[in-house]
Amino acid sequence: MMHSFEQLSAEFATRFDISHFPSSPESLYAPADYFLRLGGKRVRPVMCLMGNELFGEIEDDAWHLAAAIELFHNFTLIHDDIMDKAPLRRGKPTVHEKYGASTALLAGDVMLVTAYDYINRVKADTRAIFQLFNATARAVCEGQQTDMDFESRERVGLDEYLRMIEWKTSVLLAASLQMGSILGGAGLGNQGHLYEFGKLLGLAFQIQDDYLDAFGDPAKFGKQVGGDIVAGKKTFLLIRTLEQASAAQHKEIRELQRAEPVARVEGMLRLFKACGVDAWARELKDKYMEAALRHLEDIAVLSRRKEPLQQLAGFLVQREY
Ligand code: IPE
Ligand code: IPE
Ligand code: MG
Ligand code: MG
Ligand code: MG
Repeated sequence: MMHSFEQLSAEFATRFDISHFPSSPESLYAPADYFLRLGGKRVRPVMCLMGNELFGEIEDDAWHLAAAIELFHNFTLIHDDIMDKAPLRRGKPTVHEKYGASTALLAGDVMLVTAYDYINRVKADTRAIFQLFNATARAVCEGQQTDMDFESRERVGLDEYLRMIEWKTSVLLAASLQMGSILGGAGLGNQGHLYEFGKLLGLAFQIQDDYLDAFGDPAKFGKQVGGDIVAGKKTFLLIRTLEQASAAQHKEIRELQRAEPVARVEGMLRLFKACGVDAWARELKDKYMEAALRHLEDIAVLSRRKEPLQQLAGFLVQREY
């Protein structure tokens, strides 16, 4: 019997929502616990579990690996919020906002180390898993640095943007699926298709994230709406708008770049809309979603087994938070 996203995330939550750290020093571990208790969607650990279940029964090893992946993800978020100067996450103050940047760095670091402890609990041969985990972690660093490098650049091409979001976001979704499938004994061909499915789905996922950063409902989104505009992020929204803008609109964009944050966000949102980013976002998401689903089709297991992944894919690109 296959499990749905809701079932797996609920089961993961009961296993994961324990304390992962010693009690002292509280000044380090209370901030780490604070962040983990805010939850989140638990997309990546569920992907690991689904990657496993695609090929067989979910094993104990997969739960350990799922915990490692979620800890790694939370580590990247804490550090990302420092880099992005983000005040809010999951509807609550970010770790650096609440406890200071130095503690936030360490809370992230200790999560990364704890993630490795969980991988070490895996009983199966972990060589392929460590290799994939580390290659992924390195790619995330590269993507995050590239994302910041783009802040100070005038123009960024759509191809460059896509490569950057592949590194900072997609590879982790892809690797989560693949790591689960390795534990499930998948062959290399199936692993490859599953990885590509996750990678393409990850592009659509980050496109949706960038869309919500501009147009999300603050009550649902949980992060500061307009944060990417304030930080000067080169998202597809801006790239598309610069492509479509008239001379007058280009002039307006240049003026807005010098405006106060509130006025800049308001003005840029107006220009985004005027340049048709809504339809463009849908087009891009559809394109990557379709390409992703083709790889899912190519995986050699009964199509019934793929239903949870199809459901998850739909949720990820339609989500409002
Ligand atoms: C946020 O990831 C970071 C991105 C790659 C967009 P999620 O949207 O999965 O964050 P949580 O864990 O659910 O809060
Ligand atoms: C985040 O991209 C990617 C990683 C955390 C590695 P964003 O900076 O867009 O993520 P959010 O919007 O802060 O969650
Ligand atoms: Mg961010
Ligand atoms: Mg970021
Ligand atoms: Mg974002």
